[in-house]
Amino acid sequence: MYTTRALQDEILRLKKENDICILAHAYQSQDIWEVADYVGDSFGLSQKAAAASQKTVLLCGVRFMAETVKILSPQKKVLLSHPQAGCPMAQQISVSQLTELKKSYPDYAVAVYINSTSELKALSDVCVTSASAVKLIRGLDNPNILFIPDCNLGAWVAQQVPEKNIRLVNGGCPAHAAILGAQVKQQRKLHPDAKLLVHPECLPEVTKQADYVGSTTGIMDYAKKSADKAFLIGTENSIVQHLQFACPDKRFYALSNECICTDMKLTTLMDVYHCVRGTGGEEIVVPEDVMLGARRSIEVMLGNG
Ligand code: 13P
Ligand code: SF4
Repeated sequence: MYTTRALQDEILRLKKENDICILAHAYQSQDIWEVADYVGDSFGLSQKAAAASQKTVLLCGVRFMAETVKILSPQKKVLLSHPQAGCPMAQQISVSQLTELKKSYPDYAVAVYINSTSELKALSDVCVTSASAVKLIRGLDNPNILFIPDCNLGAWVAQQVPEKNIRLVNGGCPAHAAILGAQVKQQRKLHPDAKLLVHPECLPEVTKQADYVGSTTGIMDYAKKSADKAFLIGTENSIVQHLQFACPDKRFYALSNECICTDMKLTTLMDVYHCVRGTGGEEIVVPEDVMLGARRSIEVMLGNG
């Protein structure tokens, strides 16, 4: 029988022996963070995916993240930590729906959130993440932008970039949408000195009350650097725990008990162990034509397009 520590040691040994880089999204659990080569938001994971020197990359997170790694490093073997870990938002718009939207708005540039299928990325002009969306959309030549699929992130971007005409569609993250404006007001009363840090996938009624809106890494960096001692956190609740580990002298409170991503929670440390041993995970395959199209929109995001 393994203890957590012994299992982590075995994972560290196996990943070195088998030349595997472990990239973990910030919503993964603390025991997985501790064996990863890099932990971060979707933008940081994409940058690391492009730069990793190992022959195999194990992505601990959800499917669109592993597909992004494969698209940026097609010569590498890329594993997704748990075959069932998808992002429900990524499935909210189909290829035929986007094709129809493009016909209806032929003069619009299409900005696709990275939380999407590779097929949608291949049909879009630029891929964006929560950390990069404002800068990228501000920099586009076209004044008309069709933003898919997250209408909450899109509405927040539209507020930051009022000079663009941004058209939204009806999609979003069910976990972040579970946080309601009324809960924020209640929590503010309970913790009047706490700063409110939220992800832009939250509803506008939540983001408009926030002291800071940013990606998962942005929220963590803000809390670590801040002189404040208490924070209300409006993103997946694992971030509350990670911040408590990172800043033991500060206090962190979840805005809602329901902001939990069940897909991110699927991967366990034992799954990671099976992946580095070669007995688990799913090898990611992206068709060549989809890969080429999607890479173009991701390269624009990384500043190489
Ligand atoms: P980040 O890019 O901020 O990591 O967000 C990804 C995500 O899925 C948030 O729900
Ligand atoms: Fe997708 Fe929401 Fe989970 Fe992020 S938190 S992976 S957007 S379902």
